[in-house]
Amino acid sequence: MIRFAKRMDQFAPGVFTRLAAAKQEILKAGRPVVDFSVGAPNIPPAPHVLETLARAAAAGENYTYALSDLPELTAAAAAWYGRRFGVAIDPETEVTSLLGSQDGLAHLCLTLADPGDTVLVPEPCYPVFADGARLAGAEIVFMPQRPENNWLIDLDAIPDRVARRAKLMIVCYPNNPTTAAAPPGFYEKLTAFAKARDIAVLHDNAYSELVFDGGRAGSFLGVPGARDVGLEFNSLSKTYGLAGARIGFALGNREMIARLKLLKSNIDFGVFLPVQKAAVAALNGPQDCVAVARAAYERRRDLLTAEFSRVGWPIKPSPATMFVWAALPPFFRGGCEDFAEQLMRLSGVVVIPGTAFGPSGEGYVRIALVRSEEEIIAAAAAIAESGMLGSRGG
Ligand SMILES: Cc1ncc(COP(=O)(O)O)c(C=O)c1O
Repeated sequence: MIRFAKRMDQFAPGVFTRLAAAKQEILKAGRPVVDFSVGAPNIPPAPHVLETLARAAAAGENYTYALSDLPELTAAAAAWYGRRFGVAIDPETEVTSLLGSQDGLAHLCLTLADPGDTVLVPEPCYPVFADGARLAGAEIVFMPQRPENNWLIDLDAIPDRVARRAKLMIVCYPNNPTTAAAPPGFYEKLTAFAKARDIAVLHDNAYSELVFDGGRAGSFLGVPGARDVGLEFNSLSKTYGLAGARIGFALGNREMIARLKLLKSNIDFGVFLPVQKAAVAALNGPQDCVAVARAAYERRRDLLTAEFSRVGWPIKPSPATMFVWAALPPFFRGGCEDFAEQLMRLSGVVVIPGTAFGPSGEGYVRIALVRSEEEIIAAAAAIAESGMLGSRGG
């Protein structure tokens, strides 16, 4: 008999796996499905990025282990942070590549938390925030994000005895799943809070370029003193459509970067060289592709908000990210898991129940803006036809 690690008992098949199985059944029955569940970006990279990747992939010498970052890659990431946020980053000591931010999120806790140490994690949250802490054997204390506080972590509500023993806090704005962005002054408060209690900070800025309606996200590292306490992760997955190529960055505190690099040097051998070169092309090249991707997500958000509202499910437009965080229709009497299940069964429209991200997600579902405009219109029509919205459907 194979005896597995107890560590694995903490992981159950995720909601994505369960939804995928139910979706297969609907497809097998020959009924159409519009799947808004997984946030897999589907806006391809710009032609100059694809060409760089293709050229590098055709060169035999690029198939060696990368082992470390190309100097032009860390220089490009540092320059991008300078241009975009006015944040000066030392390319040699204050930045390292990641195999996507997911890699950093899964591994950073191993460098900071021993078994039993406390890690503060937002709730609801993107699942790997908690999974990374679990893998390290850390005790997770959730920091609720609730609508009454505009979905922001309430730093003042964290009990002092918890904050004093915490080694790391994970924060993410613009936020997945709630789509909330950080208001002015938030990162200053976060930095002061963490510094006063000696807590390391990880800020995940994966959606820095997907803020709608002309807004701009800032960087946690823009606050004086932030890099004394923490790191920021950023990713090329959404900004440049490079999700499958797996490349992101950790930037900021040099001791944290050095430790993360040390751990990763024992786990992976670096980002595939053609992907590093494509990232350099993306970061240094023309930036209109970023505005094009943002506009595409914004158009989908506008269309989905209008169409779903029109058929009887009032939806508020999200301020940022590639998601809509939708309150259940007011007349629906069950919880969000029942709602998502019925919606899928009756209309073929797949969304994620908010509780998949934590108990504060009850009453909401997350809709990923990963379908075409035609599919969004078809989804609204299917919801209307399902009769789920009762007489309110139109
Ligand atoms: C908040 C957040 N962080 C990180 C990631 C993972 O991004 P990457 O592709 O860089 O690993 C995602 C992906 O959906 C995300 O929503």
